[in-house]
Amino acid sequence: MDQPVTYGGYLRLDTLLGCQEPRSQEHDELLFIILHQTEELWMKQLLHEIDVAQDAVEGGELVPAYKHLARVSRIQAVMTQTWDVLATMTPADYLNFRSVLGTSSGFQSAQFRALEYRLGLKDDSFLRFHPEGGAARAMLEAALARPSFYDATLMQLAGAGFAIPRTAYEREPNAPYTAHEAVEAAWLEVYRDTSKHWALYQLAEKLIDLDDAMLTWRHKHVLTVERVIGRKRGTGGTEGVGYLQQTLAKRAFPELWSLRTKL
Ligand code: HEM
Repeated sequence: MDQPVTYGGYLRLDTLLGCQEPRSQEHDELLFIILHQTEELWMKQLLHEIDVAQDAVEGGELVPAYKHLARVSRIQAVMTQTWDVLATMTPADYLNFRSVLGTSSGFQSAQFRALEYRLGLKDDSFLRFHPEGGAARAMLEAALARPSFYDATLMQLAGAGFAIPRTAYEREPNAPYTAHEAVEAAWLEVYRDTSKHWALYQLAEKLIDLDDAMLTWRHKHVLTVERVIGRKRGTGGTEGVGYLQQTLAKRAFPELWSLRTKL
């Protein structure tokens, strides 16, 4: 007879709660591990939601996409809040175990890069952290090869009759998105007559929520990093805070930001 479903069995808690293996005896290392693992779990869910939202947009079903994107925003808000928990770890607490991390760093997070790629922030130089043939590499290559969420959105704009050049949404698969004047002009039209273009306007506002929340997460990361390690170099080999500050310039949907000046 089948075993009854139990709470621990269904959630595979033996495995899940066995995945925290501090490499030191320091009290705060467990928090450090759990925060990273929690963020990775949320990234898994974000990728899952973005996949289905993109399928909906590609099929011209914008209303179902809003629902998934609303969930994405709520998850992003929770992810950003976790920096406040991490900030309870002082520089002294962290320095007690930092040496056990070696050269490992969130810089090597495959899911974080997959997320960037899915939004159009494609940079294949990060593939180098993931050996060919491995699952992480395959996920990243698939994310690079697939048109981004923004490409799918621009196809909808084109389909609605806006003059969007094909080159805006059809590039070499691993090429990053760069801003186009024609795309900005199309969004300006949408924002100038929102009641006429309500569905696209609502989608655009969901996308700006997403980009805004991504930047807020990045911003809190930099602040927390500065609070904990100051201007020290990162374990991943970058200059640290200086590198992270440069990432604040990243915009997944550039014309949705720039149109606001011209409106
Ligand atoms: C004390 C805690 C932390 C410190 C001091 C820290 C520090 C850093 C530094 C210095 C970098 C730049 C790359 C490097 O040279 O290592 C980085 C990148 C990164 N970290 Fe953290 N981090 C911390 C916590 C976290 C947590 C909890 C996460 C959640 C997953 C995370 C995710 C990332 C990601 C995704 C990047 C790549 C960012 C990008 O390239 O845009 N970090 N971190």
